[in-house]
Amino acid sequence: MLKGVIFDLDGVITDTSGFHYLCWKRLADEYSVPFDKEFNERFKGVSRLDCARMLFPDIKDEEEIERLANKKNDYYVEMCQQIVPEDIFPGVIEFLSELRKNNIKTAIGSVSKNTDLVLSRLQVKELFDAIVGGRDIKRSKPAPDVFLLGAEKLGLDPKDCIVIEDAYAGIEAAHAAGMLAVGIGTKENLPIADMVVPSVKDLSLNDLIELYNSKAK
Ligand code: BG6
Ligand code: MG
Repeated sequence: MLKGVIFDLDGVITDTSGFHYLCWKRLADEYSVPFDKEFNERFKGVSRLDCARMLFPDIKDEEEIERLANKKNDYYVEMCQQIVPEDIFPGVIEFLSELRKNNIKTAIGSVSKNTDLVLSRLQVKELFDAIVGGRDIKRSKPAPDVFLLGAEKLGLDPKDCIVIEDAYAGIEAAHAAGMLAVGIGTKENLPIADMVVPSVKDLSLNDLIELYNSKAK
């Protein structure tokens, strides 16, 4: 039975995915390295250091990679100071309360080390039964760790949870954890998702139950 829903944060709950893009773009421009929105798709759900390694493939010095990643994070943390509660995507609060009313547990599963900062700025921490961020895990998506820990914190069997994700690597992570995954975006970007909708406001608990029941083994 469907018992829990685990939400990715960046790009699902709020538009911090756009912030990540702008900050990497700023860094790339400073170093005259090519970077565009298509390339950025591969950064979604991927740890900060791995993103820096992808952006600067010629740099093998890990200290330098770390310095560049820190620089991007400084831009990002500064940008996050603008976040206000109204920046939560439309429909998210309503969906969370629909889930809660129906005894479905909710969690955040993000590889971002800024998870706490973003959720605090949005003032939504108490709306989730469990929060897993980048500081809680070693391996980023596509490894299943973040979602397995989410299910564990909720006290649920992974197979009774559904993940909501905007990243290709995140859908892979959900599947590796034995969970169904709803993609937020387009079928072109997320062909492996079990169902795709443009945004959380297009989802209802019924959709999730139908998906779960249609795929239940
Ligand atoms: C993910 C984003 O949620 O967090 C990635 O999709 C980002 O793009 C990753 O790189 C790590 O974020 P942070 O905040 O720890 O740099
Ligand atoms: Mg995301």
